Amino acid sequence: MLAGKYVDMLTKKSVIRELSEYAVARGREIGYENVFDYTLGNPSVPVPESFNNSIIRLIGEKSPMDLHGYSQSLGIAEVRTAVAESLNRRFGMNYTMDHIFMTSGAAGAIAHAVRLVCEPNDEVITFAPFFPEYIPYITHAGVELKVVKPSLTDFQINFEAFEEMINERTMAVLVNTPNNPSGIVYSEATIKKLSKILLDKSREYGHIIYLISDEPYREIVFDGKSQPYPAKYYDATITCYSFSKSLSVPGERIGYVAVNPACPDACKMIVMCGQISRGIGHNCPSSIIQWAVSENLSVTADMSVYEKNMNLLYDELTNLGFEVVRPSGTFYIFPKALEEDSVAFCKKGCKYDFIGVPADSFGCPGYFRLAYCIETEKVERSLEALRRFVKENY
Ligand SMILES: Cc1ncc(COP(=O)(O)O)c(C=O)c1O
Repeated sequence: MLAGKYVDMLTKKSVIRELSEYAVARGREIGYENVFDYTLGNPSVPVPESFNNSIIRLIGEKSPMDLHGYSQSLGIAEVRTAVAESLNRRFGMNYTMDHIFMTSGAAGAIAHAVRLVCEPNDEVITFAPFFPEYIPYITHAGVELKVVKPSLTDFQINFEAFEEMINERTMAVLVNTPNNPSGIVYSEATIKKLSKILLDKSREYGHIIYLISDEPYREIVFDGKSQPYPAKYYDATITCYSFSKSLSVPGERIGYVAVNPACPDACKMIVMCGQISRGIGHNCPSSIIQWAVSENLSVTADMSVYEKNMNLLYDELTNLGFEVVRPSGTFYIFPKALEEDSVAFCKKGCKYDFIGVPADSFGCPGYFRLAYCIETEKVERSLEALRRFVKENY
């Protein structure tokens, strides 16, 4: 018999993937260069040359076992040390390799984080708008995901709704800043207020409420600003990082869990990750890629394209009368649709080969997401299609 849980999921496939498949199919009809495909968060800027150079050099220098063998179950010791030292330099933390566990991307990191601190039937709270894959990431651990409604004026945290939702079953709060899909960076004031509530509620309920901080977009912040590092503000923080976006290597599946040294049992939690891996098959990420990222911890792909694309879209959208909060990072923009039903709105856009994703599955109906990790030249050409779409329909 087939597993019912996954059979059921076949009828609830990712809207993002479905629209992306539509865009690719449409591309086969009219040429993909004519499809303004804003569906997928697949980084478009080239991998940094130094990353490629590291791989070429490593192949010449290291033994096949070092490069292609299984790594230690917590990750390669030298790589974990390099990650710890880089976080310490950058954020003034005190990590050692004993606080770092190498994972297959942020997805792998979150899979470990939730299993570290939750038992089946516990609750994790996250904030809308949120990355829809959080639903399988959390619920497949037998844990309930609860979603706080959005603060539509700024996409910071709706604290009133959050305080109503938090309860004795809440074991963790999952945040994502810079945020997919809103593009918003949580301010220091937001992170401080969140930390204070978590501390107070942990005392009230007699157990730690962990902060799981999902940070794949940490490096993509605009206007020369930077993202406050949540673990700096809250001891019981489990940071989940991915190199997918910063180095443009999502297919390499590489990231890490970092447990704040100030968190009780931090080192034990990292050793526990090695045991969690055994059950979920996210163990021993590629050895050669671990070595390569460890040599490129202070390098990023050229992110300036994303800021340029964001400004082009933001200016055009606001000129056309869209309500939109200006993104402070990522490669997403999150406007309000011009009709209540954003699914209908996005379908109309498809007729102009302008393909965005309705935000119902992001916990924010009435909005839509554009993933502008595409060539600037294509963004520029898409603006005419957007103008025609809006003028002929609204
Ligand atoms: C908010 C968020 N978290 C996690 C992930 C998963 O990242 P990875 O592909 O590195 O596992 C993504 C990917 O797009 C994301 O946007």
